[in-house]
Amino acid sequence: ASGTALAGERPIPLGSAAEVGAFRTDPRYRDALRRHCDVIVPMNDLKWQALRHDRARFDFSGADQIVAFAREHGKALRGHALLWGEALPPWAKEMTTRAEAERELVGHIEVVVDRYKDRIATWDVVNEVIAYDPQPGAPYRDTIWQRLLGPEHVEIAYRTAARVDPAARLVLNDFHFEQQIPGAAARRKVALDICRRLKDKGIPIHGIGMQAHLYADKDVDVDGVHGFMRDLDALGLDVEITELDLIDWKLPADAAGRDATGAALVSRFLAAVVAAKQPKAIVTWGLTDRYSWVHDTFPRQDRARARPLPLDADYRPKPMLAVLERYRRGT
Ligand code: G3I
Repeated sequence: ASGTALAGERPIPLGSAAEVGAFRTDPRYRDALRRHCDVIVPMNDLKWQALRHDRARFDFSGADQIVAFAREHGKALRGHALLWGEALPPWAKEMTTRAEAERELVGHIEVVVDRYKDRIATWDVVNEVIAYDPQPGAPYRDTIWQRLLGPEHVEIAYRTAARVDPAARLVLNDFHFEQQIPGAAARRKVALDICRRLKDKGIPIHGIGMQAHLYADKDVDVDGVHGFMRDLDALGLDVEITELDLIDWKLPADAAGRDATGAALVSRFLAAVVAAKQPKAIVTWGLTDRYSWVHDTFPRQDRARARPLPLDADYRPKPMLAVLERYRRGT
């Protein structure tokens, strides 16, 4: 419900994505997950690339390991993601007919959602289906799913997930909702349009995931965030923060300065969300600067290491962690 809740008034579950390589080899990584997470998300192991490398046989080895760890330590789980245009095995990118795409998509969601029915309560059903910079008449991202199934790919995914696990919380996950970036306002509108259309057709959807890969050199669009939260409320939808981290490639080199700027930005972002709506969870895309996609995708020109996450590369807490812990405690 919307209202005037102040930052940190009520506790919000905190979580992280877990990368299976680090999970297997680094005991400090597992300790950090145990300590800092209420919610865990397999970072890559529920993607088609991991599960469907072999077309004829599902490989649940990575996902099962992380799911078992979460269960053992009493952590909730988010599932990421049932449909995405990336991280697909070669055979899936080479599908050619509508019938084939529909059969594979439906079959995949049936097997995966059914397997984790009693363990994964929330699913990113579709990930990044919104066009990067949506234009009138072209709201969707150009993916194999959109090419073969058209806009219906989204409905098929939600309908199937809801049929297999009627109790699951079904989320639409996407990025560039929260900062002043070309396309952000249009992206918010497309997200809302998709949700409204699903609801009008009686297809269940429960919330939006804001990835929140924040550009550390850009400010939060506070009015845009407030408006988005109000619109979600009007549709009866939840919000959760699903992949929070900092892209600090444009910030000056000084590490302490980058950490302070990043923490202040995260604080302004979360305050903007919470002032309008209580998120169901705040999930970061990893915990330690030791392991992050930001190093590969947004390398700094000065070759200094990126500092995207709440713990540094040696697991020391950074100012961002203190911000997150305030929300976790609700104090
Ligand atoms: O583990 C293998 C390693 O054995 C191998 O030598 C190496 C060679 O390429 O690949 C390693 O796997 C990589 C994996 O990350 C683990 O680091 C994959 O190639 C690489 O594709 C994979 O990238 C992931 C990417 O999604 C694509 O799936 C990133 O870790 C992950 O952080 C990123 O996450 C996405 C979200 O799912 C959606 N939103 C954006 C976010 C960031 O791109």
